[in-house]
Amino acid sequence: MNPDETLFFGAIEPELFLPSYGALSQKQSLFSSRRCILLPTMRKILVTSALPYANGPIHIGHLVEYIQTDVWVRFQKLVGNTCHYMCADDAHGTPIMLSAQKMGMTPEAMIKTVSQEHQRDFATFGIAFDYYYSTHSPENKTLASEVYLKAKAKGLIAQREIAQYYCEKDGLFLPDRLIRGSCPKCQAPDQYGDACEKCSATYDPTQLITPTCAHCGSIPVLKPSSHYFFQLSKLQDAIQDWLQKGGQNGLPPVRSEVANKLQEWFDTGIKDWDISRDAPYFGFQIPDTNKYFYVWMDAPLGYIATTQHWAQEHGNPALWQDIWQRGNYEIHHVIGKDILYFHTLFWPALLMAGDFQLPKHVHVHGFLTVNGEKMSKSRGTFITAAHFAEHLHPEYLRYYLMAKCNGGMDDIDLSLEDFVTKINAEVVNKVVNIGSRLGSIVTKKREGKLTTPDPTGHELLSLIRDKATDIATHYEAMNYLKVTREIMALADQLNVYIDSAAPWRLVTTEPATADAVCCTGLNGLRYLSVYLAPLMPTLTAGISAFLQIPIPQWTDLNTLLTNQPIAPYQHLAERLDLKTVEKALTHGS
Ligand code: 2FM
Ligand code: ZN
Repeated sequence: MNPDETLFFGAIEPELFLPSYGALSQKQSLFSSRRCILLPTMRKILVTSALPYANGPIHIGHLVEYIQTDVWVRFQKLVGNTCHYMCADDAHGTPIMLSAQKMGMTPEAMIKTVSQEHQRDFATFGIAFDYYYSTHSPENKTLASEVYLKAKAKGLIAQREIAQYYCEKDGLFLPDRLIRGSCPKCQAPDQYGDACEKCSATYDPTQLITPTCAHCGSIPVLKPSSHYFFQLSKLQDAIQDWLQKGGQNGLPPVRSEVANKLQEWFDTGIKDWDISRDAPYFGFQIPDTNKYFYVWMDAPLGYIATTQHWAQEHGNPALWQDIWQRGNYEIHHVIGKDILYFHTLFWPALLMAGDFQLPKHVHVHGFLTVNGEKMSKSRGTFITAAHFAEHLHPEYLRYYLMAKCNGGMDDIDLSLEDFVTKINAEVVNKVVNIGSRLGSIVTKKREGKLTTPDPTGHELLSLIRDKATDIATHYEAMNYLKVTREIMALADQLNVYIDSAAPWRLVTTEPATADAVCCTGLNGLRYLSVYLAPLMPTLTAGISAFLQIPIPQWTDLNTLLTNQPIAPYQHLAERLDLKTVEKALTHGS
């Protein structure tokens, strides 16, 4: 190997957006004779997750998305990119208005309480937003009006009268999800107003057989009302162009599996989008009308409003324009497949109307199942974030779910048995065990410091460092399944090395050799903790404290700890027991 050869990470899967790891600012090498891991040109990135509704608790189904995004953001920060993670509560709409009524609270008071709970739960799971706001904000109100008025000026808004179901008892126009009835196609009873869960048919609520109000059970009447429509068809070519060529670098903003799904929608024709709702409605009033913006109009604008508020608080108010108007940032959204339509049709249309930057990538994930089935309250598998964290270490969920996340739309299953096996076999036995076995030798039987590796140790450490490109590429693609496989394969090699050297025996016969093996093993553990840091920030902080070094940076892969005192090993992770986990998670959520 040529000593000057540089190792870049950035081998690219062609259909994904991936960075151009270009010119390097500085070469850092503490290994004059070895390859060195260098940082790519710094990128500036804004990342969002979908905004959770402000009328229910965060559950582990939600967490799939926030953890997936948080890991990606942490990875970007780890490698030295500028990356901001924005999120907010989605505060508007009829269900939120009704929930507040039911609780005897104003919607404003309820969304405040729920936001505090959401933020507490996210923090417990290590989800580190740079800012968390609400769509019920002054910035968002202004934005919604501005975008609407711009769209109107561009001839994109049409007004038409439509007939909708109205509940006279509640005094309310009923949203599709608040109407129940029999499916017009398969006659299955008790289906929502927009789609049948039995036969998957989609329809208009007026087609439903025997409709009833899901709120009070009475029979609604059809009532005419004037509505405002966003004429998406006028932007169809521009949206398709964006989907084919991308917003910022000529690559498609979605993977091909997602693009295929979207093509089906284009083929069946894009309908105009009703962006207005009648009073009473908890939301923002549409300028010069007595109507309100539909929640899905102002919800995604909350991404921008949150950035505006954060930039203001951050002492750099113009920063939001850098991001959303000047194109100086990559914009990445992470969403579930259920809200694809909103983010790849409605959202680009709103951005185009408002003259904002289009996203560079929309990352779409699947749903969570528990033991192979949809989470269900009756089966006792509806697990809230708070409940999980009361019983089990939140970081175990991060590791487990992400070890099954390949960055695509496949659903992820939490099988309790597999969860226990994977955490014990991988986190505890493969990774933490390295620290516990070697730490006690170094601090109890030797002088409490790392010495220097032997030649075999150097080779092994070099091999671990050489995986940086592959691991970074998998992180970039959100393919954490491959990330964890790579890391565990390296942990296996380290354990084989340690087992065959058996430093616990050498320590009495050849203490200097035992020192070298421990030094190699613990340096290996340190490299693994750099690779694991986005997934398990608490565990890796624990490893850093044990090795008495700062929390991991990607450039740590360029350095070796020699002649370094370490702290006495303290327990870093508990083994799990299936019975305890089953009892904790499937009862009384
Ligand atoms: O589906 C949902 O849970 C919505 N609250 C997501 C909104 S994402 C964004 F567009 F605001
Ligand atoms: Zn009713």
